Amino acid sequence: MNTKKTIRDVDVTGKTVLVRVDFNVPIDKATGQALSDSRLRASLPTINYLKERGARIILCSHLGRPKGRDPSLALAHVARRLSELIGQEVKLAPCCTGPQVEALAMGLAPGEILLLENTRFHPEEEANDPNYAKALASLAQLFVNDAFAAAHRAHASTAGVAAYLPAVAGLLMEKEVYFLSQVLEPQRPFTLVLGGAKVSTKIGVIRRLLPKVDRLLIGGAMANTFLKAEGFSVGASMVEDESIDEASHIMEEARRRQIQLLLPADVVVAESIRPGARSATVSVRQIPQGWHIVDIGEITSQAYIRALAGSRTVFWNGPMGVAEIEAFAHGSRCIAQAIAHLPDAITVAGGGETEAVVESLSLTQQFSHVSTGGGAALEFLEGKELPGWTVLMDT
Ligand code: 3PG
Repeated sequence: MNTKKTIRDVDVTGKTVLVRVDFNVPIDKATGQALSDSRLRASLPTINYLKERGARIILCSHLGRPKGRDPSLALAHVARRLSELIGQEVKLAPCCTGPQVEALAMGLAPGEILLLENTRFHPEEEANDPNYAKALASLAQLFVNDAFAAAHRAHASTAGVAAYLPAVAGLLMEKEVYFLSQVLEPQRPFTLVLGGAKVSTKIGVIRRLLPKVDRLLIGGAMANTFLKAEGFSVGASMVEDESIDEASHIMEEARRRQIQLLLPADVVVAESIRPGARSATVSVRQIPQGWHIVDIGEITSQAYIRALAGSRTVFWNGPMGVAEIEAFAHGSRCIAQAIAHLPDAITVAGGGETEAVVESLSLTQQFSHVSTGGGAALEFLEGKELPGWTVLMDT
């Protein structure tokens, strides 16, 4: 899979380079400030590589899902934070194309950085409009796609632009594809840990990886659907009724393949899903009516930690509970700690919420790789083509 040219394979010295990054960061609605800068930090190796070689750098990214221009999704805060991280001014263009942007691009000195405004302020972006892609391309001599997290989108700035410029991968894109490819060819035992809200978004990955998996640990709200399929009553917890049959098939398939599939044996339940709500730890046989499952219980955490021991490859996507609420983050944190401290294992975590758990414990460096991609990582593992990767030049 790792067959694309990267910035190391081309001469970038002094060139004007259009770099697609994914700065789609969580935003505090009240202040407009970015709540996490991990996607910005993940883009630094590529930016610094280009800067050191005197490239003139034009960055572009989407933020959120605006319908037209939306000041609450403007990139000013992102530009400011990126300037702090790089220790150099990052100029911000008022939009993505047109004479003003062209003048700013032309005015860049070697090593200077210009960030274009949110690419999705232009409806042509998501329509992958060829004229918009061409106008973006006209700003530069080389296209670098470093936005792995948006590589599953066939948009003008992720894919369309490659029709008009030589196109290579950035260092983050390269790293993401390298580690996720290791998950597709895992060293055994391979443990797959899946949580988060929905089974439906993970079925493709489970189906693709099941033949290679030794242990499958399931938590988060998606476990509720499996528990219900097993005949447990899950109170007021979220269940995807339309996926119950699929959950049964997966469990059947796991049994046939002699895969150790673990579901929660005990769970934390709460009267409501908010901080300070009344909560208790109960067996999955005793979930009170009207209560919500919000985390895995201690018995389950310990069982999952034991199951992780000895793994040579681990992929984890999705928290074990409502991890953004402190009181319900314990199970996810136990799993993060256990994976981080596995000796001699390739450990890959993916998805925004999972990354937030790992970050909150300062464990990022203890993982082989923490993917910046949620949907993109899942689609990659499902075997779907990622347009933002496919369009890059082959080696
Ligand atoms: C993400 O955060 O998953 C990517 O930035 C893609 O965003 P999107 O789902 O709005 O296309």
